[in-house]
Amino acid sequence: MEKYLINPNQKISHINKNIYGHFSEHLGRCIYEGLYVGEDSDIPNVNGMRCDVVNALKEMKIPVLRWPGGCFADEYHWKDGIGDKATRKKMINTHWGGVVEDNSFGTHEFFELCAQLGCEPYICGNVGSGTVQEMNEWVEYMTFDGTSPMAELRKKNGRKAPWKLKFFGVGNENWGCGGNMTPQFYADTYRRYQTYVRNYGGNWIYKIACGPNDADYKWTETLMQNCRHFSGLSLHYYTTPHVYETRGKALEFDAAEYETTISKAYKMEELLTRHGEIMNRYDPQKRVSFVVDEWGTWYDVEAGTNPGFLYQQNTMRDAIVAGLTLNLFNKHSDRVRMANIAQLVNVLQAVILTDGADMLLTPTYHVFKMFADHQENTLLGSYITTKTYNADKRDYPQLVESASIDDNGVIYATVVNTSETESAEFKCQIADTAVISVKAEILSGDAHDHNTFEHKDVVKPADFTDFTRSADGFTAKLPACAVVKFTING
Ligand code: AHR
Repeated sequence: MEKYLINPNQKISHINKNIYGHFSEHLGRCIYEGLYVGEDSDIPNVNGMRCDVVNALKEMKIPVLRWPGGCFADEYHWKDGIGDKATRKKMINTHWGGVVEDNSFGTHEFFELCAQLGCEPYICGNVGSGTVQEMNEWVEYMTFDGTSPMAELRKKNGRKAPWKLKFFGVGNENWGCGGNMTPQFYADTYRRYQTYVRNYGGNWIYKIACGPNDADYKWTETLMQNCRHFSGLSLHYYTTPHVYETRGKALEFDAAEYETTISKAYKMEELLTRHGEIMNRYDPQKRVSFVVDEWGTWYDVEAGTNPGFLYQQNTMRDAIVAGLTLNLFNKHSDRVRMANIAQLVNVLQAVILTDGADMLLTPTYHVFKMFADHQENTLLGSYITTKTYNADKRDYPQLVESASIDDNGVIYATVVNTSETESAEFKCQIADTAVISVKAEILSGDAHDHNTFEHKDVVKPADFTDFTRSADGFTAKLPACAVVKFTING
């Protein structure tokens, strides 16, 4: 029997709700159809935003949304997406499928979407192919509260008051699709661009610099030498079972490929630790946040779909990846203060899939909703003993957990059993606490289980009762391939 210890006396760090953030790019059917259908659509909408999707995302407590990309951001010219929709510039989305982008979803529409969702906007500016002036004017357009050319243009386009914008990214993947820059060249370019990202009136911008890809520690080192110019440094890391020719399939995988996927997802622990060590050397006070603004599983597209649309199904395997990764973010919440899974609807590890007017919630959606109770809590000291496995030349644990406490003293413990086949039994003890009640919720099933438009509830959370309470905790037996949340009152 494994041992699980939670110490409510050890309050470690604040779990920023933005760790549970999302990403939406002009890619495939994410923005168009997935979120925005236009005012004239037969699909029920408010100001063009589809109601079913907005309602589901509000229930999941989406805290922050990144837009417009991704690689799209470094080719996006914001002035193409304002003003009369009939005359907005039509262009080719060269990165993603070569389809026509009619710019009907632009700055005003993005702020409208965030207002409906009740979430913070996080905008990524164009460094790769945009000018300093263009970036400067975009910030002025969005946030300047006075008389200026951009504020007048905003008013002419129907928005009198400036919007509140906190999070602004200065470029995306500038080591790759955002300009193929060297770390030193980007660091210098960043310093120049960010100078003109101004704080107007009461709006204070939290500038996020493009950070490393995966294990590019040199990039982190070079950027951190300039860290007084930014508040956040991003990280991009995708979990993909294969790296050549095929990335693997979302629905078809064998035991070895399952294990490789989980092991690769668990690499996040190493990345957060090692990049964190570099950041600690330059910023021991942890002023700068690590912002994992793209993460998730990336497989081959579903057969018969546009290869440039990155549409993939989502199984219990993805739920395990989500649960273990969110537990790792909680554990590193002293440094990780935002993360954005890629992407919100119909792209990569999406929480929602749509088919015309129809919509389904993926297993990953249910994990985000279960974990939402951790948002804005305090991370507690906790530890679980566990078996380990090995795949892709890396050890990874069978059990991955995190525990937090809210302002009312309620403790939330989320435990993931990463094994596809083995159950796990553990005894949980909560230090100095007389436990009054425990309730639990589980998401589990065969690793291949997934929801379809014909069968939308194959994977959905259920009450979990396979545990016995004791004076200071409980003993539980988790089935294989499971994500469980315990809510503990003491
Ligand atoms: O999320 C898909 C793409 O992955 C993004 O556009 C890019 O930033 C990353 O390479």
